[in-house]
Amino acid sequence: MPQSRNIKPALLALIFSIAALSVAAAARAQEHAPSAHHGFSDVNHWAAVFESPARAKWQKPDEVVRALDLKPGQTVVDIGAGTGYFTRRFAKAVGPSGSAIGLDIEPGMVEYMKNDSRKLGLRNYHARVIKADNPELAPNAADVIFFCDTLHHVANRVAYLKGLIPALKPNGRVAVVDFKKDAPIGPPAKMKIAREQMIEQFSKAGYRLVRSHDFLPNQYFLEFEPTARG
Ligand SMILES: C[S@@+](CC[C@H](N)C(=O)[O-])C[C@H]1O[C@@H](n2cnc3c(N)ncnc32)[C@H](O)[C@@H]1O
Repeated sequence: MPQSRNIKPALLALIFSIAALSVAAAARAQEHAPSAHHGFSDVNHWAAVFESPARAKWQKPDEVVRALDLKPGQTVVDIGAGTGYFTRRFAKAVGPSGSAIGLDIEPGMVEYMKNDSRKLGLRNYHARVIKADNPELAPNAADVIFFCDTLHHVANRVAYLKGLIPALKPNGRVAVVDFKKDAPIGPPAKMKIAREQMIEQFSKAGYRLVRSHDFLPNQYFLEFEPTARG
């Protein structure tokens, strides 16, 4: 029957489509899919994810750093810095008179950053391990406190953010890049914090939104200043 002759190619096409969809879904899951339900202790695995050349296409790290308009001599604290994907760029942006400090709860990530700063010869790039609930920053320590894809891992966010205010210098700010609720990559949707919810939590912690950059396809990028300095 002519009909049955057509079934095979149609069936094959269907099988190929399903296989292609599964491969694409697996690739997306592999690409930048951190989750609060596992740690980041497997540094080699996560370094391949965070430092993947494909990331730059959507992460636009150099544009992010440019948008922050850092000045020579400033101090940037990168909380949840991972492999220092942004920290090393901050160190270059603020120059030898400034400093970039990568903080993480994972000792392996901090070791990675320390090796990286040595390899790059960036003497103004430092790294240290912090506690999950308090980075224990000195008062008046930072011009910019930066989070990329980290705040969704932080518990009791409002209290945590409130606690950062004394660490900001006069005119200091907190910058946040995190996954949009409907981004096709990143953690599961239930872990993502919607842009409006993030703004509300900063507001509860005593900040106001001063800038919103809209050039990242998968993430929002917001800058906040305290409404009153601590
Ligand atoms: C998704 S990675 C982002 C790494 C880096 N910011 C980047 O953009 O490549 C999240 C990082 O935050 C760290 N982290 C998770 N909870 C944290 C917390 N409460 N305080 C500081 N770092 C934390 C993890 O160990 C991990 O290195």
